[in-house]
Amino acid sequence: MRKLFIAGNWKLNKTIPEALELVNGLRREVGDVEEVDIAVCPVAVCLAEVADATGDSNIKVGAQNIYWEDTGAFTGEVSAPIIKEAGAVYVILGHSERRQFFGDTNETVNKKIKAALKHDLLPIVCIGESLEEREAGKTIAVIQKQCEGSFAGLTVEEMEKITIAYEPIWAIGTGKTATSAQAQEVHAFIRGWLKKAFGADLANDVRIQYGGSVKAENTVELLSQPDIDGALVGGASLKVDSFAGIIKNAVGIKK
Ligand code: 13P
Repeated sequence: MRKLFIAGNWKLNKTIPEALELVNGLRREVGDVEEVDIAVCPVAVCLAEVADATGDSNIKVGAQNIYWEDTGAFTGEVSAPIIKEAGAVYVILGHSERRQFFGDTNETVNKKIKAALKHDLLPIVCIGESLEEREAGKTIAVIQKQCEGSFAGLTVEEMEKITIAYEPIWAIGTGKTATSAQAQEVHAFIRGWLKKAFGADLANDVRIQYGGSVKAENTVELLSQPDIDGALVGGASLKVDSFAGIIKNAVGIKK
């Protein structure tokens, strides 16, 4: 059985006081929820204080990116050992905004995954097609290429630490959610690919989140699909009520 996993990607939002207000509110609302794994992913500079504020609750903390070297002359970057020490458990890698604006590729995502795993971080690896690619009928080919490139050279034991987030780019921040059937189709393909590449047991264990305009109102419909194991939430993770609403709606859905 796969436990549902809801993660909030705060992107470039929230100062330290704002981040603390949000995490304290979430702790009050959903800090004792055990049926669902919960993570919040603040801006790197807020990680340590947000992690402290989660205390012994079930809310864990993730970063939004790392560089693949641990230390060195890489101005402006953060690394796996540094975010780990700050309290991160997870790290989002290969988000489409990073691929689009900051040059992340399947090859660099692969290096970042290996760096994260070396330091016992749990990667949330984002993949997804653009509107142009979907309209050209290339969705599955794009997803396959992203999987092959991002997960190249990983062992089954390493893949067990990974969550995949399927985020169709056209559904991110647009209010335009993929239909549950559209999302399920791609999630089923990803699981099928995992089975071919790493075997049935691993494919059955890996959680595949959906991301793209998830809100409390569409959570049940999406997460009831057999291969959708949670959500990576952007806009709706920035307020206590909307993020807590998603988590509460996810409780009780079984895989
Ligand atoms: P929205 O939920 O704002 O569409 O963002 C999704 C996302 O990019 C999460 O990583």
